[in-house]
Amino acid sequence: MQNNVLILDFGSQYTQLIARRVRELNIYCEIHPFNKLPQNLSEFKAVILSGSPFSVRGEDAPHPDLSQIRKHKPVLAVCYGAQYLAHFSGGLVEASATREYGRARLSTVTTNEPLFEGIEAGSQVWMSHGDSIIRLPEGAILLASSHDVANVAFKLKDEATYGIQFHPEVYHSTDGKKLLENFLVNIAQVAQTWTPDSFVDLTVHELQEKVGKGKVVLGLSGGVDSTVAAVLLHKAIGKQLYCIFVNNGLLRKNEFEKVLRQYEGMGLNVKGVDASKRFYEALAGKNDPEDKRKAIGKTFIEVFDDEAHTIEGVDWLAQGTIYPDVIESISVNGGPSATIKSHHNVGGLPDFMKLKIVEPLRMLFKDEVRRVGKALGIHPDLLGRHPFPGPGLAIRILGDVTEEKVRLLQEVDDIFIEGLRSWNLYDEVWQAGVILLPVNSVGVMGDERTYEKVVALRAVSSTDGMTADWVHLPYEFLMKVSNDIINKVKGVNRVVYDISSKPPSTIEWE
Ligand code: XMP
Repeated sequence: MQNNVLILDFGSQYTQLIARRVRELNIYCEIHPFNKLPQNLSEFKAVILSGSPFSVRGEDAPHPDLSQIRKHKPVLAVCYGAQYLAHFSGGLVEASATREYGRARLSTVTTNEPLFEGIEAGSQVWMSHGDSIIRLPEGAILLASSHDVANVAFKLKDEATYGIQFHPEVYHSTDGKKLLENFLVNIAQVAQTWTPDSFVDLTVHELQEKVGKGKVVLGLSGGVDSTVAAVLLHKAIGKQLYCIFVNNGLLRKNEFEKVLRQYEGMGLNVKGVDASKRFYEALAGKNDPEDKRKAIGKTFIEVFDDEAHTIEGVDWLAQGTIYPDVIESISVNGGPSATIKSHHNVGGLPDFMKLKIVEPLRMLFKDEVRRVGKALGIHPDLLGRHPFPGPGLAIRILGDVTEEKVRLLQEVDDIFIEGLRSWNLYDEVWQAGVILLPVNSVGVMGDERTYEKVVALRAVSSTDGMTADWVHLPYEFLMKVSNDIINKVKGVNRVVYDISSKPPSTIEWE
C-alpha cells in the first residue's frame, strides 16, 4: 500500500482546499467523485469524506456504499460526510434551527484522543451547515462540542472512523491543519514523502518509461506551467523533446525575444516562430471577445500544426495541464462548470493531430508547480511571473485589434509592469496589466487640446484567479506611473485605475 490519501468528493466548494492542505503536509492525495470509487482502492491508505451542499435527508443526496472503505481504512468525515456517517449508523440528523455559518469555538475537547492531540478547548473552527447531528450513533464516542453544537466531533465504535462537523481545510479553522496531520500521520500512519524532489524523481522515471524513444512536441507559452512541464520532460528525455514557442504578436513588449533567450539558456530544444502577421490577419475586423479568442485559438493550432509537421516522427503532445483543470473535468457536479469565457485551453487537441498526450503536471496544484520548478532550478523570475492569458493583449484591447494598438498598449504595459518591479510591488500583486479602452477623451498638453486614448490599469490579488480583489497600490506609485505613461506614450492622455473585485467583475475586461 502506498502513501496515498483518497478524498471522496460530495460536491463541496471546499474539496480542493482539503487536497491542498493534505499536500501541504507533504502527503499525496487524489480527489475522486463519491459515485466512482477508484479501481486501485487498495493503494489508498486513508480516506477523507468531503462536505456537500446537500442534506443527508434529501432523496437526491449522495448516499454511496462505503462498505469497501469503512473498517478497512481510517476515515475522516467532514461536515456532510460526518452527517452521512451519523445518519446511516443509527444517529439522528435534523435541520438546525438556524443555519450555522462562520466562526465558532470548541468548548470541550476530549483529552487523550489522537485526533485532537495538541488542540484545546477554545480553538477556533469554521462551520458551514444547515443540518446538525442531534444524536450520535450507538456506541459512538463524543470527542468535541462547541457552544451551539453538541456533537462537533465523534469516533464510531470499533472502527478508525471519525466525523467532524467543522471544516479543518479552511484557514479560519486555526488548528485544522494540525487535525489533518493528527489523522493522517498519527492515526492512519501515512508517510510524509510527497516533496518536490520526490515528485521530480518519480515523474522523470515515469516519463522515461512512458515515452521511451519517442519524440515529444510541446508548446511553450512563457508561463509557469508550460515552462516547468518542458524542463521536467527535458530532464527525462533530453533532445527527444521539441519545444515550439509561438510569437502571436500579442505578447508583452520584447517578451518573445527575452523569454526565447531564457529558454535557450536552459538548454531546451526550442524553436521560436514569429507568426505575428498571421494572427493580426486573423483578428482583422473582429470586435467580439469570443470571436477574437476563437480566431487566436484557431490560428495557434494552425501555426503549431505546421511547425509540428516539420519534426519527423512525433509521437506525443505534451501539455501543461494542472490538477484544478483535471478536477473540474471529473467533478461530481457534472463536469466543467458553465463557460463564462471560452478560456483555459483544456482538451484542446485538434483532431488532425493524432498524437498521444503526456501531461506531467496533471496531479499538481499551481503552488506545487512553482515548488517543483524551484527544485528543477528554474530561475525565480520565470517562476514568479504573473499569469498572462493565452490570447494576450488582444483581450486587453477592447474592440478590434491592430498592430498599432498592440504597439501602443505594449509601451503602456511596460511602464506599468517595470514600475511595479522597481517599486518592489510586482511580487505583492497576483496579476497586473493595462487595458486599452475604445474611447478618446479630451485633454490639454501645453497650449494644445488633445483628443486621445484612455488606458485602465488593473492590479489584483488572488490565489487562483477564481476570485480576486483590486490591490491598494500606493497613490505615489499611481501618480508616477500615470505621469510617465502620459508623458512618454504618444496617443494616451488619460489613465484610470480599475477598482472592481471579482466577482462581480472579472480580471480581464473581455
Ligand atoms: P477572468 O477574466 O475570467 O480571468 O477573471 C481569470 C484568469 O484567467 C485568465 N484568462 C485567460 N487565460 N485564455 C487564458 O489562457 C483566456 O482566454 C483567458 N481569459 C482570461 C486571466 O488572465 C486571469 O488570470
